[in-house]
Amino acid sequence: MNASSVDYLRMELKEPLEHPDWAACEQTGMEVVRWLVRHHVTLSEQPIGRTGSREQVEALLGGPAPEHGRAFAEVLQEFTNKVMPNAFKTNHPRFLAFIPGAPNFPSILGELLCAGTNFFAGVWLEAAGPSQVELTVLEWFRVLLGMPAGTSGILTSGGSEANLTALTVAREPLSFQDRERAVLYVTEQRHWSVDRAAKIIGLRPEQIHPVPADQDFRLTPEALRKAIQQDRSATRLPWAVVANAGATNTGVVDPLESLSGLCRDEKVWLHVDAAYGWSAMLTPEGRRELEGIGDCDSVTLDPHKWFGQCFESGCLLVREGKRLAETFTLRPEYMQDVEPETDQINFCDQGIALTRRFRALKLWLSVKVLGLDWHRELVSRSCQLAELSQALLEQHPEFEILCPRHLSIVCFRYRPVEGGGDGERRRGGDENSSRLRLSEEELDSLNLSIVDELRATGKAFISSTRLRGRVALRFCFVNWRTTAADVEEVVRLLLEIGKTLSSERAG
Ligand SMILES: Cc1ncc(COP(=O)(O)O)c(C=O)c1O
Repeated sequence: MNASSVDYLRMELKEPLEHPDWAACEQTGMEVVRWLVRHHVTLSEQPIGRTGSREQVEALLGGPAPEHGRAFAEVLQEFTNKVMPNAFKTNHPRFLAFIPGAPNFPSILGELLCAGTNFFAGVWLEAAGPSQVELTVLEWFRVLLGMPAGTSGILTSGGSEANLTALTVAREPLSFQDRERAVLYVTEQRHWSVDRAAKIIGLRPEQIHPVPADQDFRLTPEALRKAIQQDRSATRLPWAVVANAGATNTGVVDPLESLSGLCRDEKVWLHVDAAYGWSAMLTPEGRRELEGIGDCDSVTLDPHKWFGQCFESGCLLVREGKRLAETFTLRPEYMQDVEPETDQINFCDQGIALTRRFRALKLWLSVKVLGLDWHRELVSRSCQLAELSQALLEQHPEFEILCPRHLSIVCFRYRPVEGGGDGERRRGGDENSSRLRLSEEELDSLNLSIVDELRATGKAFISSTRLRGRVALRFCFVNWRTTAADVEEVVRLLLEIGKTLSSERAG
């Protein structure tokens, strides 16, 4: 390159690329924060959301990338008018479907700071402070779960990544021959991310052994022992078990203490999927339910479920912590400068991602600002809300509890009664005597329609599942905003919709 070209480039690159000026950034930033606060203040009164068809939403939001930009305020308006109405607010107090997410405001600000600083939380060299914050948060969780010193972990995008990471770590010591005959035991009540993780790590379908749950939807040591013995006598290699601490369907916790004893005796890895239920460890009742969780080999916990965090807050803890780095550490040449000291952690060595955001920040802020006691209160009031919902459902003969409250989940269905019911459960009577004789298929169809109708009101959102093949409606409480009045309103709406739909069908 000649001297004049160098001079030309020097002049061309004298200033940074043009970017909105900082006064404008401050103004738009404040506008966004004000927008968010307004959104949160009015959330309970807002419609819960809606789903547009692909055609409608594409017509609103499709189109080519613009070559030239526009004012931030205009694009924010577009977001408000076109994006916002076409989504459900999972943090709405009457969004009780699936496992919702309702972040507290310190967590939201943590996300903002995380994005705004954009630290690279993959290697210690680049982010000692953020890495230490992640270690500190992981240590909080280790202590809460009662896992031993030497446990390590990593914050993940969520429970799916944590389950995948756990199975990858558990499989690492197996020889390639043993991987072919290794068997993974799962409960019929597992979350489907376990099946996907098994698929990703290359297990064949016949290497997954579903163990039937008992009548309370639990994986029992007896059933597990039988399954392991069967496989041993067929010269397969019992390798790992995934148990639930808070099943997605029902909230049920498997008997972790006895399962961990069995797995230890059988030399089988025990992974506990506590993505939803782990927060119950904050309360005495929850600790009793989850007794034994600290003895497992690995555990998935999702703070974005029941710990007031923004999405993409998952976590994996592994009892023999060094196994994480043994599984994932690779050193290509261009990473030779980031070799950590022995007492330092490169989080890219602990899991799947290299480039990682500073996920720990929102958790750290949330706990530091609100205290662990706020999170504990969140858990205990969620359980009380579930208890209240069950009590309200039980007041009406039209509702049948299909799985009573476990943690903060209740499963039930609507079953019409003759004469539309008198609104109160008849004391001492045979509650089945006044049931209308609908077939199970008719009941399934009625309950699925109730879910759709409730959602269409824009006032509440619950989801359905199947328990022993039958459609069940489900409440899941994890939201700090939900109140007793919200629960009463949802039960009232369900009753009203149930009555209308069943009389329409009867007529
Ligand atoms: C028990 C359980 N495990 C795993 C997952 C998957 O977690 P994520 O959605 O964070 O990937 C869920 C999600 O609901 C869950 O309930």
